[in-house]
Amino acid sequence: MHHVNIRLLGEKFLRSTKESGVVHALVQGFNSLLKSNKIDEFDLRYGTDTSGVIPLWRMHINSANVNCGVRYQAIPVEQFRLAIGTIQENLSSFYFVDLGCGKGRNLILAAKMGFAKVVGVEFARELACIAKTNLETLGIDNGVILCDDAVNFRLEDNDTLIYMYNPFSEAVMQIVADNIVDFIENNPTRKIYIVYHGTVCRHIFDNISRIERVVPNGISCDALIWKSRQPFSSPYS
Ligand SMILES: C[S@@+](CC[C@H](N)C(=O)[O-])C[C@H]1O[C@@H](n2cnc3c(N)ncnc32)[C@H](O)[C@@H]1O
Repeated sequence: MHHVNIRLLGEKFLRSTKESGVVHALVQGFNSLLKSNKIDEFDLRYGTDTSGVIPLWRMHINSANVNCGVRYQAIPVEQFRLAIGTIQENLSSFYFVDLGCGKGRNLILAAKMGFAKVVGVEFARELACIAKTNLETLGIDNGVILCDDAVNFRLEDNDTLIYMYNPFSEAVMQIVADNIVDFIENNPTRKIYIVYHGTVCRHIFDNISRIERVVPNGISCDALIWKSRQPFSSPYS
């Protein structure tokens, strides 16, 4: 991965120096280059490429929302399993969607957990290619990778768990949330779960009346989880 987006790199560096000074910005940049080369246990075990930390300026991204995006870094496997495991429902007929799927580690985990289909949306071309290769390497044939901005993604007519590991900031999340609400309004009997690892956009989901927070029972889990409210069912229908 040798591409360098100079404009994005410059903007990121300026933002960092404004927030914490030149020395800190340089140290941060250097650390992220070092971290990006580590191969972790997951990849050693499965023969995949999902590890590392990759800043967005190192990739080809054709989107006006690039400045709202967060660099690639996979969620720790245990945190992911814990979050999905808190959901008290048989998810085998559900689709799993990772918005900002990066190299697709969660799609691999979700496919192994038995989701009916796994879909990854990723706007960085290099990461989307790696995610595709990873699914092929493991023979996962119910998986799709869409190389696109998450704002363009539309849910299919199926029960779905939407997963997000701190992928983007509020401006993008608001559009994504509006699209989810549209879907729920047009498909009121469909069950939708939203699993969000992050804090900055929590209020966006808390303010949607069509969904409600699911508070895990007795399990401490970092993720925030919401579920679509089921429509009132009339005894005469
Ligand atoms: C913190 S990583 C999470 C990776 C993956 N979901 C995981 O948990 O292992 C955030 C990812 O979101 C992607 N991303 C950021 N903004 C995006 C957008 N608007 N559309 C699609 N992908 C985006 C980044 O390229 C990055 O790969």
